[in-house]
Amino acid sequence: MNLPWISVEDYRQETGWVNPQQSVARSRSCCESLESGQILLFPKLPFALPREDQEFLLAQEWTELRMHKNVSYRPMEDVLKGVSADAPTTERLRRIFRNYSAAVIDFVGKLLEPYAGKCTIDFSSFRPFAEERRGLPLHKRNDLLHVDAFPSRPTHGGRILRVFTNLNPKEPRVWHTTDPFETLAQRYAEQAGLRRFAEESWVSRTVQDWGAKLGFRGMGRTPYDMFMLGFHDYLKGNADFQKECRKIRLEFPPLATWLVLTDGVAHAVMSGQYALEQTFLVPTEALVLPEQAPYRILERIAGQPLVS
Ligand SMILES: [Fe+2]
Repeated sequence: MNLPWISVEDYRQETGWVNPQQSVARSRSCCESLESGQILLFPKLPFALPREDQEFLLAQEWTELRMHKNVSYRPMEDVLKGVSADAPTTERLRRIFRNYSAAVIDFVGKLLEPYAGKCTIDFSSFRPFAEERRGLPLHKRNDLLHVDAFPSRPTHGGRILRVFTNLNPKEPRVWHTTDPFETLAQRYAEQAGLRRFAEESWVSRTVQDWGAKLGFRGMGRTPYDMFMLGFHDYLKGNADFQKECRKIRLEFPPLATWLVLTDGVAHAVMSGQYALEQTFLVPTEALVLPEQAPYRILERIAGQPLVS
């Protein structure tokens, strides 16, 4: 059986790959590991995040500042959301996010060279609340196993890459994961409506295409994108699956960083507080193992294209 994660020991925050002659091969092997459903773990911070910024994030009275489920930052627009604090606090938070995001983008460009310059930089977020007993509605709950899909950002078969850091200096962040995507898809995709999405009508396809051309958020979804949104909800709502499925417990230690393609690795957050995260969308052209991507797995099951 595979280990729940691969600990990367030959990459340093200051200097990158320990053996630069092997950087091309190591970079490619990290992409292969991620695309085949592994999690890459860095026990120590692999990018710069000043201690005073870490402490500032931990020291805020988040119950007063909070507005949303998480605080989020959009690097390409330099927009911070989910905070209602005084102007100096908001500006400091924005600066911390801006620097954090730039550091992670630089790190990912070096670590995962085959993706460099090809990814869409998505949002970053900070999760300052204890994950246990948050009282969220079913489809927003993080403690139920699911694969990620974003209603407003269809990927057209591309992958969702997320870089998480557990900023909590004392407590681990605890996840559950389960069987690989292919196993879940073979067992549940038909029940989750794969056939219906695969046989999407010409009218529905045209509406999506025109919506995208006119700039409506979340339009331009392929049948794959629509299935994945449904699959996210299907898995969370399937009480038998949640209860009976195999569970692998992962404890990410304080200050560990981990990378995972969350559209392919089912995950649930069981406990933890103070996680930082930056998301990237990896287009299909950049994938090193495209046959292992969820859209290809689903196309094989459906027997027809879901993306083009
Ligand atoms: Fe998720």
